[in-house]
Amino acid sequence: MLQLSLILPSFNERDNLLILIPILQKLFHENKISYEIIVVDDDSPDLTWKAVQDQFAKQEEIHVIRRIGKKGLSSAVIDGMAVARGTYFAVMDADMQHDEKILPQMLQEMNEHEIVIGSRLVGDGGYGDWGIVRKLMSKGATLVAKLFLPIQVKDPMSGYFVIRRELFNEIGDKINPIGFKILLEFLGRKKGIRSKEVGYVFRTRIHGATKMSGSVIQNYLAALYDIRFGKYVSLTFISYAIVGFLGYSINLFSRYLFSFFFRDSSKLFTFAFTSISTSATLAFVFSIMNNYFLNNYWTFRRVKNTGFYQNLRGLTIFVVISLIGLFIQLSVWNYSILLYKQSQIGSENLFINIVCNFIGIVFATATNFYLNKNITWNLKD
Ligand code: GDD
Ligand code: MN
Repeated sequence: MLQLSLILPSFNERDNLLILIPILQKLFHENKISYEIIVVDDDSPDLTWKAVQDQFAKQEEIHVIRRIGKKGLSSAVIDGMAVARGTYFAVMDADMQHDEKILPQMLQEMNEHEIVIGSRLVGDGGYGDWGIVRKLMSKGATLVAKLFLPIQVKDPMSGYFVIRRELFNEIGDKINPIGFKILLEFLGRKKGIRSKEVGYVFRTRIHGATKMSGSVIQNYLAALYDIRFGKYVSLTFISYAIVGFLGYSINLFSRYLFSFFFRDSSKLFTFAFTSISTSATLAFVFSIMNNYFLNNYWTFRRVKNTGFYQNLRGLTIFVVISLIGLFIQLSVWNYSILLYKQSQIGSENLFINIVCNFIGIVFATATNFYLNKNITWNLKD
């Protein structure tokens, strides 16, 4: 069996990989390490995948996975591991910022550990020429991770590490492949994991550019939440509830504003024996548009409706579901007040009214979420 499967996730790293791969091959040869190298490229516009395929066409230890229509560092690593054949799986950036010279030592340490990390914060390690802002961001992210998760490692933000195949087999299906922080997934999803850090100095990038961005940071926080609490309440539901709360506030506020223009006596139409005021109707339309589009572009962004017709369909279903929700909310509200009155604990007052309304909202939100997730956005988890 091969000793090592080295996974190199890449996006626009053509110039780097053509230099890095021969350096790695020489290193493995000198240290008598049997290996395969798996480049997982997300269909880079600079044709990284093609350059590597052409250059190493005759070498069967070099594999290239060209992923079309997919994107993301963590999911690239997972896809690489899924086809890897070695005893050990190593992950390294494809841009030569990770010092390959410590890799043999990292493999040595695997005899006694489940995970070995190339670390900027132990021994001779360092951040190289990182600016103060980037350093602070990395330290901040590390701090948040340590608050959330019970991890001992000094540099859990590292993108450079080795694990055993068994660890991947054991927890690979629990891993949430969004964002950059794949190492955290391995550290956070198994308790008491035996880990070791080996120091190295982060190198300056010579070719190409970093892919770190605002959405990487958002995905990072989402990933942390998911590792810690995801099995109790899904992040999608949290986002949905935030949007719902926002819509509720917009509804109240705009209704208040509209009521200056249209007296509350101005009735737009009659629904179920009650006439609905113009301001309430407008506020409903206003908040529902807000909620639909926020959910489309944020909560359900990964399966969002695009184009006019898809959005028209989505919006129509969303409105119908909202009306069902409204019906549930009002029914539960009234029914719980009725129950309260019958129980003769006390008389109806504002506080009880708010509590009962809240219970109604909880019921309606749960039902609406379920329906919208499965019908409006058809999200399968
Ligand atoms: N397949 C694929 N898809 N690869 C990607 C993607 C993607 O969407 N985004 C980035 N990569 C690859 C890059 O080509 C590079 O090989 C590696 O992932 C790291 O990306 P960089 O953009 O160079 O990240 P960085 O150098 O700014 O960030 C470094 O520090 C982070 C935290 O401190 C890296 O070492 C990260 O791994 C590390 O998490
Ligand atoms: Mn980099």
